[in-house]
Amino acid sequence: MNKLTRDTPVGTEPVEITLFVNGEERRIAVEPDVTLVDAIRDRLDMLGTKVGCAHGQCGACTVLINGERRYSCITLAVMHDGHHIQTIEGVEDNGQLHPLQQAFIDHDAFQCGFCTPGQIMSGLGLLREGHVQNEDDMREEMSGNLCRCAAYQHITAAIWEVHERQDEPGVRLSEQREELLAAGGRVR
Ligand code: FES
Ligand code: FES
Repeated sequence: MNKLTRDTPVGTEPVEITLFVNGEERRIAVEPDVTLVDAIRDRLDMLGTKVGCAHGQCGACTVLINGERRYSCITLAVMHDGHHIQTIEGVEDNGQLHPLQQAFIDHDAFQCGFCTPGQIMSGLGLLREGHVQNEDDMREEMSGNLCRCAAYQHITAAIWEVHERQDEPGVRLSEQREELLAAGGRVR
């Protein structure tokens, strides 16, 4: 098996890559055409990240890559050798829900739940970006995450609540943890 380098020829043979997933170093072998979401689900057996459209249209597959929210269905795993990936499995902290996860429960922000991991990851990325000024901004910023159950009002309310609570110690602690994850720190 080839180790991925700048000079690795493009082909069909698996190459070895290293992903830092939720703070854990994971080495996997992937063919060059394997998407990041397929690597996460099929090679790492982490099924929290969903696949809806597989075409960059719905946001179900949203993860954070080096702290930025991205659709993992339209990017190849080999492009992320050495990158830090945060998935929904890395959001809770030793069994304690992240304030945003709790807010989704409190605001009844899901029905079937299929879109929820992507909504939460996108919400986390949005909160970290820190440029949302009001709920209209938030709706616009979340427009890349579709919900077939149309729970939009509740999703917006949940994210806005955490946005408004960001100065509270418990919420801030979680943000620090996320920054650590985004920077590649080990958290467990
Ligand atoms: S599954 Fe990736 S955007 Fe729809
Ligand atoms: S809760 Fe069902 S798709 Fe969003």
